[in-house]
Amino acid sequence: MQFGGRATEAQSAEMYAACRAAGITHFDTAWVYTDGTSEQILGRLIKSERDQLLIATKAGYEGGASAANLRTQLDQSRRRLDLDMVDVFYLHRFDPHTDLRETMDCFAALKAAGVIRYAALSNFAAWQVMKAQMAGMACGLAVDILQPMYSLVKRQAEVEILPMCTDQGITAACYSPLGGGLLTGKYAGGGGGRLSEDSRYGARYGTATMHQTATALAELAAERGTHPATLAVAWAAAHPAAPVPIISARSAEQLQPSLAALDCRLDSDLYAAIQALSPRPAPATDRLEEQEDNKD
Ligand SMILES: NC(=O)c1ccc[n+]([C@@H]2O[C@H](COP(=O)([O-])OP(=O)(O)OC[C@H]3O[C@@H](n4cnc5c(N)ncnc54)[C@H](OP(=O)(O)O)[C@@H]3O)[C@@H](O)[C@H]2O)c1
Repeated sequence: MQFGGRATEAQSAEMYAACRAAGITHFDTAWVYTDGTSEQILGRLIKSERDQLLIATKAGYEGGASAANLRTQLDQSRRRLDLDMVDVFYLHRFDPHTDLRETMDCFAALKAAGVIRYAALSNFAAWQVMKAQMAGMACGLAVDILQPMYSLVKRQAEVEILPMCTDQGITAACYSPLGGGLLTGKYAGGGGGRLSEDSRYGARYGTATMHQTATALAELAAERGTHPATLAVAWAAAHPAAPVPIISARSAEQLQPSLAALDCRLDSDLYAAIQALSPRPAPATDRLEEQEDNKD
C-alpha cells in the first residue's frame, strides 16, 4: 500500500529485498493503491522470481462487486503487474448492491480460466462471508482467504471472524498489525506519521484507550529488550486461528522490527501479558461474564 506513495520506488525495492531475504513470499497490493503505481512497482520487482511468490491484489473498492467491474479491474491489475495469473484475488469490500451469487460465479469462472488461484474477500463481516459461502455453493466455490483488520487495538476479528475462519478452513491474512503505526509507540513520544498525516487513520486509531495500549506495549517491549512492533506483529500472528499478518512500512529500516517478528515466539505468559494491554471484545452473545478464560 506504500509502494509509489509514502515509499519511493527505490525504498520499495529495498523493502522487497529485505522481505525476500527474510523468506517472505506473499505480497499484497490492490487496484486502488497509489493510482496503480503500487501494482506497477510490485510487477517490476517480482519479474525474475514470480514462480516462487504468492501475489495478491484486490478489486471492487470502487465500482462495486459486479462481475463486469471485477473483470475490468482484474484485467487492468494483470497488465500493471505484468502477470497472466494473480494468485489471490480479493473483493476489497462488501457491496450491498450486488447479489453475491454474481460475485461468486465470477470468482469461479476466473479460477476455471486460470487467471486467479484463490478467491478472497476483505473487510467482510462474518455473516457476509457465510452468505458468500452459501452463494458459492451452486458453482462449487468456497472462500479461500479473508483479509480482516486485526491488531492489539482492533480486536473485533476475535469475536466471529477468526473463529469462523478456523471453522470454514479459510486463511486469515490480517492487515494493519501495527494499528497503522500506533503500536510502534512513536506517538507517545510526540512523533508523527500516518495517524497525524491521514485524518482517516487519525480517527480510526484516535481513542485514548488505544494510545494507552500503545504506551503500555512500548513499556513491556523495553522491559523485554525488544521493539514494540516486533511484539505487536508476533502477537497478531499467535492467535489460535494462525492468521498471517501483512506487514508494511515506508522504508526498509522501519520494516525491520516487523520482520523480526518472524523469529519472535511468544510463550503463553508473554502472549497473555500483551493481550491484557487492551480491552477484550465482548462475545457475539454479549455474555462476557460466562467466558471460562475471562481474565482480561
Ligand atoms: N484490505 C484492506 O482494506 C487493507 C487496509 C489497510 C492495509 N491493507 C494491507 O495491509 C498492509 C499493511 O497495512 P498497514 O500499512 O496499515 O500496516 P501497519 O503495520 O499497521 O502499519 C504500517 C505503518 O506503520 C508505520 N511504521 C511501521 N514500522 C514502523 C517503525 N519501525 N517505526 C515507526 N513507524 C512504523 C508506517 O507508517 P508511517 O511511517 O506513515 O507512520 C507504516 O506504513 C498494507 O500495505 C496493505 O497491503 C489492506
